[in-house]
Amino acid sequence: MPAVAVLGAQWGDEGKGKVVHLLCREADFCVRFNGGTNAGHRVVTSRVPSLVGDGAESDSELPAQEFKFHLIPSGALHENCTGVLGNGMVVDPYALVQELNALRELRGSDPDIYISYGAHLLLPYHPIIERLEGSQSALDTTAKGIGPAYRDKAARIGLRMSDLLFPQTFLEKLDKILERYRRIWPESKELQQFESQELGEDLLRLSEVFRERIVDTVQLLHDALDQGKLIVFEGAQAALLDLDFGTYPYVTSSTATIGGIGSGAGVPPNRVGRIIGVAKAYTTRVGHGPFPTEIHGPLGEHLRQQGHEFGTTTGRPRRCGWLDLVALRYVSKLNGFTELALTKLDVLSGLFEIPVATAYRYHGRTLYEFPAVCEMLHECEPIYERLPGWKEPLQGCQTFSDLPRAAQDYIRFIEDELNLPISLISVGPGEDENLWR
Ligand code: GDP
Ligand code: IMO
Ligand code: MG
Repeated sequence: MPAVAVLGAQWGDEGKGKVVHLLCREADFCVRFNGGTNAGHRVVTSRVPSLVGDGAESDSELPAQEFKFHLIPSGALHENCTGVLGNGMVVDPYALVQELNALRELRGSDPDIYISYGAHLLLPYHPIIERLEGSQSALDTTAKGIGPAYRDKAARIGLRMSDLLFPQTFLEKLDKILERYRRIWPESKELQQFESQELGEDLLRLSEVFRERIVDTVQLLHDALDQGKLIVFEGAQAALLDLDFGTYPYVTSSTATIGGIGSGAGVPPNRVGRIIGVAKAYTTRVGHGPFPTEIHGPLGEHLRQQGHEFGTTTGRPRRCGWLDLVALRYVSKLNGFTELALTKLDVLSGLFEIPVATAYRYHGRTLYEFPAVCEMLHECEPIYERLPGWKEPLQGCQTFSDLPRAAQDYIRFIEDELNLPISLISVGPGEDENLWR
């Protein structure tokens, strides 16, 4: 069975976690292949999986629960689904153990997870280095140390999950890298205070919780594919934050587009069938960087309040703007989307009209292609098509024909402009608030 990819189509926080959770009801594996704790994927369930049994009718009577995934794949809430942390990730082991504990509590049982030998360790000195360098404030990152951890990987001095299996060499490698950073930042009290033996032993002790789960995940996933198992790949971040294709330097440090599955999980493109782009019905961005359709003023604040647009990881208010089809066309091309999942359509209820950017005006020219160059984007003026809004709330809509006519037209307009089917429309955070088509 070909695998399914779920990828962010804007600047992150599109609702990937929710979509992945839905798809993983039927999946055998859910795989993260990029990023680390910079990701925050919120899943709202109307049931507690471990209590469900086979009495489907009683599910809805259980109270709604939420879980914010950062490292563990969002499908791991389901009993049937094994979570895999791929080699393309940078994993903070302290955060991993915390998340495992929280998830165990919610599920009432241990989630089934595996971690790649090749996943890099994000260690307590990485966020400190990010702060010292000033990149945290210059880019407004999530402050988790993501950039420094990936830089260690590229510089070939990073520590990997497999290193935890060889304690003596692990301690030696850690000592070397800490020595290096103490030399680079002699004035940093925070870095000087790390005692490598102590930190190393603490990490080795901590890793006992998941040591047996550090395996060859490439083999695991290929065996699963050969046995006809269903794998869902869960992208973190999104195309416009991709290290290569995003709005550099206001990007993250990993590959958030389709190619990340090959490099970050070892599964080649011809094993992936459906490629689902997740987009909000409008646009948000957290952190600095160009955002042509950003709304300044009361309407932006209206969307932020209606959509609860505050970061899942950091709580930062998200910048809000209209849907940008120029950007989406670019992202769809990069990823080869076979379909789109459109989330948060409910948030647009009550607007008189809804502007959608179909092109940009740049130095007197009309651009239909997204220029992924900050200097150009800063001077791009969106050209808007103004579509009629609708008054009705959408909660409770269960089929496409339940939607108000203007909302149906909004969906069809996007499909026509992008030449892409929208197969899932989400009208609320809950797992049952969707229209499938
Ligand atoms: P992710 O990083 O792409 O997984 O997205 P986040 O979880 O960071 O942010 C999406 C937020 O929107 C979460 O709080 C979700 O619970 C919520 N959400 C998802 N889909 C919908 C929807 O259709 N309507 C509303 N109102 N909220 C949604
Ligand atoms: P999910 O998976 C939204 C943004 C940060 C910052 C930039 C670089 O939940 O969609 P980093 O800490 O990665 O070096 O920060 O990228 N960013 C995200 N924005 N959603 C995310 O993840 C993000 N992960 C990173 O705000 O602008
Ligand atoms: Mg998020």
